[in-house]
Amino acid sequence: MTTAPAGPTVPDEGRGAVRRVRVALVFGGVSSEHGVSCLTAAGVFSALDPERYEVVGVGITRTGRWVLVDDETLRGLAVVDGRLPELSEHAPDAMLLTHGPGSRLAVRDEVSYGGVDKHSALSWLGPVDVALSLLHGPFGEDGTIQGLFEMMGTRYVGAGVLASAVGMDKHFMKLVLSASGLPVGPFTTITPADWARDRSACLEAVSALRFPVFVKPARGGSSLGISKVDADTGGALVAAIEEAQRFDPKVVVEEGFVGARELECGVLSDVDGGIPQASAVAEIRVHSESGFYDFEAKYLPEEQVDLDVPALVDPTVADQVRDLAVRTFEAVGCEGLARVDVFLTREGRVVVNEINTMPGFTAHSMFPRMWAASGLDYPALVDRLIALALARPVGLR
Ligand SMILES: Nc1ncnc2c1ncn2[C@@H]1O[C@H](COP(=O)(O)OP(=O)(O)O)[C@@H](O)[C@H]1O
Ligand SMILES: [Mg+2]
Repeated sequence: MTTAPAGPTVPDEGRGAVRRVRVALVFGGVSSEHGVSCLTAAGVFSALDPERYEVVGVGITRTGRWVLVDDETLRGLAVVDGRLPELSEHAPDAMLLTHGPGSRLAVRDEVSYGGVDKHSALSWLGPVDVALSLLHGPFGEDGTIQGLFEMMGTRYVGAGVLASAVGMDKHFMKLVLSASGLPVGPFTTITPADWARDRSACLEAVSALRFPVFVKPARGGSSLGISKVDADTGGALVAAIEEAQRFDPKVVVEEGFVGARELECGVLSDVDGGIPQASAVAEIRVHSESGFYDFEAKYLPEEQVDLDVPALVDPTVADQVRDLAVRTFEAVGCEGLARVDVFLTREGRVVVNEINTMPGFTAHSMFPRMWAASGLDYPALVDRLIALALARPVGLR
């Protein structure tokens, strides 16, 4: 007799039994957040109960190859000597194929016969019940992989195509939020066409903002390519724009909130389709040299930043942040999870900075910590996300 393991299971085609849920953990990626995504994958892998989930590691290398990653490699992804992990290019190709109403995985080895490189036949790795993409940044958090999953009939965790794309693009995100009546700060966008056609008009639009300004790649992440510009002297502004353009040809310039506090809030979809839930609110207090929450402060030395979970703020402010986080989640049409980051200005206003549809997700990251402070621990959080994804068919997302 077969006994069903506890937790979610799926019927085993035609055999009348149940089996563990097969999760494709997709991570790495071609974006500059490759290493961060690898850290997340190691964390999530350790949180997935092996009695209930069968995990298949699918890495995307820096060059964009999809490769199969074994459990031992997954477990070992860590910061070594201050360096973030990186996937090896030397692994069999992994591929996702449609299979009936769902999808399945296959691998293909590269073999050498008498000095000639050839590809071996495909080996089937079985069905994928749900994909959990832990990719941060462009080509992953921006709707692209969500579109692939849609085409392949793969159920997946998190926001759909449009919400992912809007969440990734700081320009369109601000348009959607302000059209929904939600507070965002003053900004201007410099498209590559604007910059090529009339640079001085772009710089004039920026000079209408109050300095300091923050110059950002429109579709960046982890603070990469962001500069704070205190005054437009000595070509500092042009240098900051060109630096941001190295990451994205489209650049957003925002008025800086001087002396504002940075607060964050996690949002999760409700299992029964009710109003999304907001976590405890957290605060980031930064003492980095740059004066903002930059890449180093996010991932490297701990001393540059204090994280208060929960934040030491007035309960009415925390409620305001939670309410704004849920409204932001819904305005963008998000599903599954998101972290909403806000500024509490010196005047006491709460303004949305951004929504992250695949926030940092190691056990030490803010999103899981905020949920732990709200009574949902890391393994329970991952369970919840998978349950939400399994319950929702693909299509028109
Ligand atoms: N308008 C702003 N005013 C003050 N600080 C800002 C502003 N925009 C960004 N920052 C600082 O820069 C950090 C990174 O900016 P953010 O827009 O969150 O980029 P990313 O998507 O890379 O996380 C923020 O966490 C904050 O410390
Ligand atoms: Mg941010």
